[in-house]
Amino acid sequence: VPLLLLWAVIGYLLGSIPFGLVLTRAMGLGNLREIGSGNIGTTNVLRTGSKAAAALTLLLDAGKGAAAVLLARALAGEDAAQIAGLLAFLGHCFPVWLKFQGGKGVATFLGLMLALAWPVGLACCATWLFAALLSRISSMGALTAAMASPFWAVAFSFGSGVALTICLACIVLWRHGANIGRIRAGTEPKIGQR
Ligand code: G3P
Repeated sequence: VPLLLLWAVIGYLLGSIPFGLVLTRAMGLGNLREIGSGNIGTTNVLRTGSKAAAALTLLLDAGKGAAAVLLARALAGEDAAQIAGLLAFLGHCFPVWLKFQGGKGVATFLGLMLALAWPVGLACCATWLFAALLSRISSMGALTAAMASPFWAVAFSFGSGVALTICLACIVLWRHGANIGRIRAGTEPKIGQR
């Protein structure tokens, strides 16, 4: 158990690095908190107009989730990998450095799933793409992928991961409360719109 606790802390610390904020500041793209949704993720970084910054944010936010899983798995096994992945996700959503006001966890969720069980991760990415391309709305992709993830976990026999995907999906939905309100009101911006 102390070992799992250690991987929880490492996962959290990795996940809590707010790459979107760090990159947009470093690249002089303005204050992300005052742009678009104010969120620190890829979708909002894209609203600064920089595709490069958005692509890097996606890569790094997904990468920290994957890194937490792969590191923990290599050094401490499968249970540690799941804990580290979950905590990386929570670290992104609730980073101590930002008074626990973090992101919505979508990229980190996809990254950790790809590392944990790549068929499930790939299916989630495909679901995101499908829903986002159809609707042209990033949060629609996120909500659809999150809700589909437990079904993909079952479909690909990732039995030990079903509870994890349900937990992640609930938090993703909760973090998208404002987006859900805008989708229902028909005011949620399309990808790339400010
Ligand atoms: O990944 C977050 C995305 O689903 C929504 O982002 O900035 O439109 O709230 P945003």
